Amino acid sequence: MAHDFILFAREFLATPFQVAAVSPSSRYLARAMAAGFGAQTGPVVEFGPGTGQLTRGILAAGVPPQDLTLIEMSADFARHLASEFAGVTVHRAGAQEAPSFAPAGSVAAVVSGLPLLSMPDPVVEAILTAAFTVLRKGGEMRQFTYGSKPPIAPRIMEKLGLFAMKSSKVWLNVPPARVYIIKRASEI
Ligand SMILES: C[S@@+](CC[C@H](N)C(=O)[O-])C[C@H]1O[C@@H](n2cnc3c(N)ncnc32)[C@H](O)[C@@H]1O
Repeated sequence: MAHDFILFAREFLATPFQVAAVSPSSRYLARAMAAGFGAQTGPVVEFGPGTGQLTRGILAAGVPPQDLTLIEMSADFARHLASEFAGVTVHRAGAQEAPSFAPAGSVAAVVSGLPLLSMPDPVVEAILTAAFTVLRKGGEMRQFTYGSKPPIAPRIMEKLGLFAMKSSKVWLNVPPARVYIIKRASEI
């Protein structure tokens, strides 16, 4: 675990805008992001797993490793994830490329640790489009954010026909975080 913090800090110093957090999420946030998941959930894709803190929560909730795919941009994080999580599929890639790794309409949930609020609109749009291409009917994306605002600007949500619902607030995280569930507005 100390190794995770050192690796995270090193990556933050090397690529602060890509990592956009000074430490990994807490186990409490990981539990909240995986709430309700289990052995029957089906395929789950995680965007921006970093050192794998949310990954641990998803696996602890009962999602089998073979149902979990991780998409991480950083080569060092991707190498670490592949050695840490046996049976889980790891791709070193941008989340925008998700449809190259999962068939359209096949995924039950996308769990995102991406810093969407600090990304330009076209990148956020590409990532959300990728997520909702692979998500099946009724599927959802889970995203946490640190501020009081939703994790995605309303103009983007409206343009893509999406709807964000507030879920748990996790105080035991640095900084405290809010979980949001994002769905197709037509399915609310
Ligand atoms: C705030 S950190 C979150 C790490 C981890 N999920 C956690 O909660 O502790 C953001 C992570 O997203 C990754 N990342 C940033 N942009 C990405 C992209 N477009 N596609 C995939 N991963 C990306 C970073 O390399 C970093 O690992």
